[in-house]
Amino acid sequence: MPGARAGWCPAPPVALPSVLFVVLLSITIPAKAWRPWPHIGLNTSSSLGESKKYEGSSEFVQLRYHMGPVLTANITVHPIWYGEWTPAQKRIIRAFLRSISPNGPPVRRPSVAEWWRTVAMYTDQTGANVSRTVRLGAEKNDRRYSHGRSLTRLSIQHVIRSAVTARTRPLPVNPKGGLYLLLTSADVAVEDFCGQVCGFHYFTFPSIVGYTLPYAWVGNAARACPTVCAWPFAVPEGYGGPRAGEPPNGDVGVDGMVSVIAHELAEMASNPLVNAWYAGADPCFPTEIADLCEGIYGTGGGGSYTGQLTVDARDGAAYNFNGIGGRRFLVQWVWHPELNYCYGPNALD
Ligand SMILES: *[C@@H]1O[C@H](CO)[C@@H](O)[C@H](O)[C@H]1NC(C)=O
Ligand SMILES: *[C@@H]1O[C@H](CO)[C@@H](O)[C@H](O)[C@H]1NC(C)=O
Ligand SMILES: *[C@@H]1O[C@H](CO)[C@@H](O)[C@H](O)[C@H]1NC(C)=O
Repeated sequence: MPGARAGWCPAPPVALPSVLFVVLLSITIPAKAWRPWPHIGLNTSSSLGESKKYEGSSEFVQLRYHMGPVLTANITVHPIWYGEWTPAQKRIIRAFLRSISPNGPPVRRPSVAEWWRTVAMYTDQTGANVSRTVRLGAEKNDRRYSHGRSLTRLSIQHVIRSAVTARTRPLPVNPKGGLYLLLTSADVAVEDFCGQVCGFHYFTFPSIVGYTLPYAWVGNAARACPTVCAWPFAVPEGYGGPRAGEPPNGDVGVDGMVSVIAHELAEMASNPLVNAWYAGADPCFPTEIADLCEGIYGTGGGGSYTGQLTVDARDGAAYNFNGIGGRRFLVQWVWHPELNYCYGPNALD
């Protein structure tokens, strides 16, 4: 079991594939109840059953604070580009990361920065909030697949170690607000990728990396499983229905990664050491603020319906938030600590 291998939690008692410390994303393949949007005939009483337990109701969700730190210092994201990345692909992800902070040139609403405001409502014991400031920090290229084309949960930590200990331009070690974001290109296999996860976050072990640093991995699923991890830009073959919409930045895999990156950043900020904000009694299986809202991008979302989105009449791009430079992104919602349901700044109510 991945978690047992990581040596942190006792072997879990359940037979379910153990997704220890990881964030499970869009595993439900939206083949059955998937609905095209803009939605037609969406009837809440009949079609939102699955999502209702989260959206609009806190009945089943016991999100709790477990006394650990949240990221209150200015956050700096350090991407590690593993494998082959085109400049255009990097630009999409950088633009997304640069869109999170509210400072900067004005951006059309609803914006990515407004979306992060919900994440910034989470506080620590001292009442300090998650930082509103998220910066793009130094980056590292790992073009030559330093640890091969097939990574495990543990070898991912070795990739991060290589990045912070490189002889030339190592990534800075920043335990205060640094987040290390390993991005693997579409030709890299990662343990549990597609079958169980599209990304996950955890923290590095001092015994491997030398420090305890929050990190996340997100993979480009364009080749391996776009209908799972780049949904709704890719739909299962034979689905037969109309396409979900065009990826707003023209790249199914990378546009799909943006929401997974957002998911991981929101959770790293509110639960960086997996001892702060999560639901569920078992710290080995935390359900975090983005897990609760997986697959929900707009009002009415849930089950396999994305919720109301904006579809650009000119190019068919489907998105919910605006970013810098006129970029558009599709980003899942997160759990709102006061409203007690999933929320995003494009909410209609
Ligand atoms: C939605 O479903 C309810 C109950 O099945 C029904 O009464 C209502 O008319 C439906 N609304 C629409 C818009 O179809
Ligand atoms: C954090 O970011 C804000 C806004 O960019 C800036 O004003 C402030 O000086 C930063 N604080 C630190 C400690 O770097
Ligand atoms: C800080 O968190 C509190 C509690 O969630 C919230 O009411 C407040 O708006 C947050 N402040 C900022 C600056 O985000």
